[in-house]
Amino acid sequence: MKEILDVITEKMTAAFKEAGYDEKYARVVLSNRPDLCEYQCNGAMAAAKEYHKAPFMIADDVVEKLNGEAMFSMVESVKPGFINMNISEDYITEYLNSMNEDERLGVDAIENPKTIMIDYGGPNVAKPLHVGHLRSAIIGESIKRIGKFMGNEMIGDVHLGDWGLQMGLIITELRERKPGLPYFDEAYEGEYPVEPPFTISELEEIYPTASGKSKEDEAYKDMAMQATFELQKGRRGYRALLQHILDVSVSDLKKNYEKLNVSFELWKGESDADPYIPDMVDKMKADGFAYESEGALVVDVKEDTDTKEIPPCMILKSDGAALYNTTDLATLIWREADYHPDEVIYVVDKRQELHFVQVFRCAKKTGLVPDATELKFIGFGTMNGKDGKPFKTRQGGVMRLEMLLKDVNDKMYEKIVANGTMTEEEAKKTAATVALSAVKYGDLSNQASKDYIFDIDRFTSFEGNTGPYILYTIVRIKSILNKYKESGKEAGDVKIPVAKTESEKKLYLELAKFNAAMRTAYEESAPHKLCAYIYDLSNALNHFYHETKILAQEDETVTAGYIKLLELTKKVLEQCIDLLGFSAPDRM
Ligand code: ARG
Repeated sequence: MKEILDVITEKMTAAFKEAGYDEKYARVVLSNRPDLCEYQCNGAMAAAKEYHKAPFMIADDVVEKLNGEAMFSMVESVKPGFINMNISEDYITEYLNSMNEDERLGVDAIENPKTIMIDYGGPNVAKPLHVGHLRSAIIGESIKRIGKFMGNEMIGDVHLGDWGLQMGLIITELRERKPGLPYFDEAYEGEYPVEPPFTISELEEIYPTASGKSKEDEAYKDMAMQATFELQKGRRGYRALLQHILDVSVSDLKKNYEKLNVSFELWKGESDADPYIPDMVDKMKADGFAYESEGALVVDVKEDTDTKEIPPCMILKSDGAALYNTTDLATLIWREADYHPDEVIYVVDKRQELHFVQVFRCAKKTGLVPDATELKFIGFGTMNGKDGKPFKTRQGGVMRLEMLLKDVNDKMYEKIVANGTMTEEEAKKTAATVALSAVKYGDLSNQASKDYIFDIDRFTSFEGNTGPYILYTIVRIKSILNKYKESGKEAGDVKIPVAKTESEKKLYLELAKFNAAMRTAYEESAPHKLCAYIYDLSNALNHFYHETKILAQEDETVTAGYIKLLELTKKVLEQCIDLLGFSAPDRM
């Protein structure tokens, strides 16, 4: 369905032209004075210069052409030259009824869908997920869902960190503990055991131990670097260990992501780029892009228009080892070969921006990806504690994701138990659902690039701009719809009636903005715009609820009309929270 603002703009454009003025002045916006009007056009003010006329004369001319236009209940020119408009009750009511009948609730899919790969999550295997990875997962998942809803093919890739020093550290520590394992015997030619030589909890303990040792013991660190190097060079036993580490970590990661309602189409890692590295490097050299600088192999990526220094992109270290750049570049090779994406989006901490500037420029310059492929970096800010510093545990360490979710779950559970009459099991399930909304909405309602403060008390509140408040609104609607159904009634094909009160009209206007809100959230990769929209919509619904007798109406068709209105509101809210990556319980 056409967005209302676009329909009005078309009418306004026609009116400006008919009245003899340039259509470029016909821009219509949502009113910033909702007490005076719903929409406004300020073009006459700007046109005054060109036509050497008082702005109100131009506004008068245009308004005259709009008189009798059925979509408006009011069009007036207001001195010094504004054009104010209200949408007619009939028009908006019909608009809502069409939305209600449309599977997509009035949001058209985009005309030219794209294939978009989205690189998010980015956990490092064998290291527990911590809050630093939370934002990437939450934001990436929402951007993916929004893109898909708009009609694109979205391919999410978790891009595991599985090729760096942490692998060498784990191998080294394992060798210290169990030197007799066949993986360490270079003469061994047989099959390696199918069972991994560790569990996930051992693995999670091995890494910090090894990392700690390497900081104190130079020789240990050298061994870990050597092991990393040999792994990358293809040492058979180490590759087998890598596979074990991956198997064990990935199944653990999947469980964690499932709890977050996050899932990936592809579970590729940095190590999957490895087979493409030698040819990539040869070609970069042969084409004259890569050259040696202080022993390392680099590609220049600075541009004349740069205002700050962009250092060369390092492709190989002096010992020939691959770097973070190298795997990201080579990853683009298989992404292009296997999927031909129109766009590749990276949802990563904004402190990595320079890395991506270098990688994107290098990939374009050396022809790894076609010129037309859009490489997009969406950098997010830091999640801080109430003290304004990066979020930490009470002990001061980096908080593990599991612990954080558990804290929020516990808090929610207490509230829900205090509130109601649920069985323990239902209370637990409900707490988990509401807690997820608290965490995700708390994150997504901020513009991604900004730092934000993780405030568990605020995020879990049922009031204010929070996830639980949105869920509470949905639960409220569900409960009315249930009562209606239990009374044995059915709204059937009754239509949403014309709004009679101010609170109804306000709700109608909010509902009608859904397609515009979706488009902006999509075009700007901005889930926070969707959050802002459902917050306004929830406020409008709750205001309407407090002002209106819904079930206790004498005339049953009035109630049935309200039921239809509530059904539409519920559908829109539920669609939005699904795109944000959480869901609503039946009660709370
Ligand atoms: N593993 C990285 C980290 O923990 C994030 C990976 C982001 N994606 C990428 N293609 N580099 O910082």
